[in-house]
Amino acid sequence: MTEEENVSINARALTLISHKLKTPLSIINGYSEAILSQAGKEKFSPFTSKALEEINKQGGKMSQLVDKLLAFNKVITAQHEGMEKQSVLLKPLIKECASKAITLEEECALPVRPQEDSSIKRGTFVEIDCPERLSVTANEEMLRLCVQELLANAIKFNNKMEKIIKVQCANHGDSISLSVRDYGAGIRPQDVNRIFEPFYQVDDFFTGQISGWGLGLPMVKRILDLHNGSISVVSDRGLGSIFTINFPVL
Ligand SMILES: Nc1ncnc2c1ncn2[C@@H]1O[C@H](COP(=O)(O)OP(=O)(O)OP(=O)(O)O)[C@@H](O)[C@H]1O
Ligand SMILES: [Mg+2]
Repeated sequence: MTEEENVSINARALTLISHKLKTPLSIINGYSEAILSQAGKEKFSPFTSKALEEINKQGGKMSQLVDKLLAFNKVITAQHEGMEKQSVLLKPLIKECASKAITLEEECALPVRPQEDSSIKRGTFVEIDCPERLSVTANEEMLRLCVQELLANAIKFNNKMEKIIKVQCANHGDSISLSVRDYGAGIRPQDVNRIFEPFYQVDDFFTGQISGWGLGLPMVKRILDLHNGSISVVSDRGLGSIFTINFPVL
């Protein structure tokens, strides 16, 4: 069997597994949500409420894992089969990705405790600095995956109560850049060289996170390769990171 055929069988197997997991997962998540929505009308014991919340939260995380596998496979397939590109306006796409990333984060976050100090501002705020008419030539779905992933990481590897994320776009004439800046955990220099390797995750106390596959950045890197673009990162441990993606102007 050729290398090409092997890759295609692996990609097909992963897509099939992911699709087969999606149906039972959506049933588990749908029912647990429906039962939880009854919580006001029916009196559940604290144990039952806690168990239901946990089932729902873990179900949500599993769905995100399956979705990431499917997205990664889509990119692998595009590497072999190609994809269409068109002119895509950046600002509306970034806005959409930001609200999706915040919603996904909220689904997995612990509920806010009532006794929490209300003087502390809590939440995620995405500031977008992008010219209204700035566009790139790209596959829209792939571009969305990139922006979504960089925003999700900026939120995830960030233990601050108030998470400020800044997205900035610029036209440099021969290329267009989009950078995502966070003030979260940051990355050590020895890890920066490895975070684009599939399944590499920095497992430490500082980020406090190890959910996911370690497939997001490798996926973004492959998408940029498909567009003859590039990705770079500047990071300071404890101060935050800036991920910048660059698309050539065609
Ligand atoms: N903005 C960031 N701040 C700090 N660390 C980061 C940031 N983005 C990525 N990392 C580090 O790089 C690793 C790889 O990121 P990547 O997005 O590939 O995987 P993941 O987010 O852990 O899992 P997945 O994307 O599959 O859900 C992360 O596990 C994390 O340690
Ligand atoms: Mg990620």
